[in-house]
Amino acid sequence: MKLWSGRFEKNTDALVDELNASIEFDSRLYREDIEGSIAHAEMLGSAGILTEDDVKSITGALRAILGDIEEGRLTFSLENEDIHMSVEAELTRRIGEAGKRLHTARSRNDQVALDIRLYLKKEISEIKGLILALMSALVRKAEANTETIMPAYTHLQRAQPTTFAHYMMAYANMLRRDVLRLDDCLERMNESPLGSGALAGTTYPIDRGMVARALGFAGVTQNSLDGVSDRDFALELLSCLSILMMHLSRFSEEIILWCSWEFKFIELDDAYSTGSSIMPQKKNPDIAELVRGKTGRVYGDLITLLTVMKALPLAYNKDMQEDKEPLFDAIDTARKCLPVFTAMIDTMTIRADNMRSAASGGFINATDCADYLVRKGLAFRDAYTVTGRIVNYCIAGKKTLETLGLEEYRSFSPLFGEDVFEAIALETCLKGRKSEGGPSPDSVRAQIEYIRTFLRQTM
Ligand code: ARG
Repeated sequence: MKLWSGRFEKNTDALVDELNASIEFDSRLYREDIEGSIAHAEMLGSAGILTEDDVKSITGALRAILGDIEEGRLTFSLENEDIHMSVEAELTRRIGEAGKRLHTARSRNDQVALDIRLYLKKEISEIKGLILALMSALVRKAEANTETIMPAYTHLQRAQPTTFAHYMMAYANMLRRDVLRLDDCLERMNESPLGSGALAGTTYPIDRGMVARALGFAGVTQNSLDGVSDRDFALELLSCLSILMMHLSRFSEEIILWCSWEFKFIELDDAYSTGSSIMPQKKNPDIAELVRGKTGRVYGDLITLLTVMKALPLAYNKDMQEDKEPLFDAIDTARKCLPVFTAMIDTMTIRADNMRSAASGGFINATDCADYLVRKGLAFRDAYTVTGRIVNYCIAGKKTLETLGLEEYRSFSPLFGEDVFEAIALETCLKGRKSEGGPSPDSVRAQIEYIRTFLRQTM
């Protein structure tokens, strides 16, 4: 018999039960559901709404149920629809009358809002830990490569010289923002909705603050209608995870390019790449491709929940039961991708020689050549035009700025002297880029220190 069977004259159709039930996916909230119920029962006891004996037998049985679920001795069926009713039904089966009193001054609507928040709070700190681990791996790679010159690109065309360390620190900064976004999301999520009741609060003299404190919330939600209708916190987390995955997808794309024979800037460890069933020479960057692909899936989860919530009238509507699967899917996806991605980065080999030759052939020191002329007194725009002509001349004659003779230089401008070769040497170009945030080894060491401090303070 259903917990809510009072006003019904017959049972629901079996197909309805199947569609209606959420137990198949919300059973993962069992711990949060039980913790919430224990806090609720204790508050009812201290407010004089339940007797101390009832509270003792309820909380004792709830703890026993938790233990049984964790040991695999207790599983749930469709019969009790969702995790909230399943736990309550099991409680009443074990302790009788007292179990039936637990749901006083509470609704499943505030219960589900509470459970998800509790669950997400835990997941956010796990995911943060995984991001921080990836950042540490990037810092390690950066520290070892502050002098590893490579070309940086715009439009995927070789643009200016940088180092592999500078590149790694770019991603570390993106991930730092992901961590801060999660903190921010957590802070707004950190309010207990319990005590909203079904939607209009309750006539019982409950103490919402006590429940909130017991469960580790910073405070309580301020409006009972909003408390049960709000899924912003879930949407915010999905947005944070979408941005995180977007970052990982950009990184993945670069890894995939860098692994190709055309680049060969890096080599992935055998443990983090796969082969082909037909082409014996292949070593594929499947991990990076999967992370890139799964990014679409997390975006889908965000769009799913935005669409579920669109135009829903206040307060609870059953549509909202559809919040959980996309949310869980996005969390599971991020949790699965991050550690593998970190290990892939940690174990990859850097091919500094290939980076260096790509940096030498692509005129990435052309800006420095123009800057040289500026130092000799030419206006930048004119220096730019002269250098452009030189590059054109080099391309036609299959030369580079490094291999051009001084006389050839002088035919474009009398300002060129012997010191031009020193000025356009890649090492000079790199060391000179010591503006804050730039790729010079000193600038990058400062960036590494900044992220190291962040990691120390956050971990
Ligand atoms: N299983 C429901 C959900 O996940 C719990 C809340 C149900 N409330 C209700 N009034 N039917 O959203």
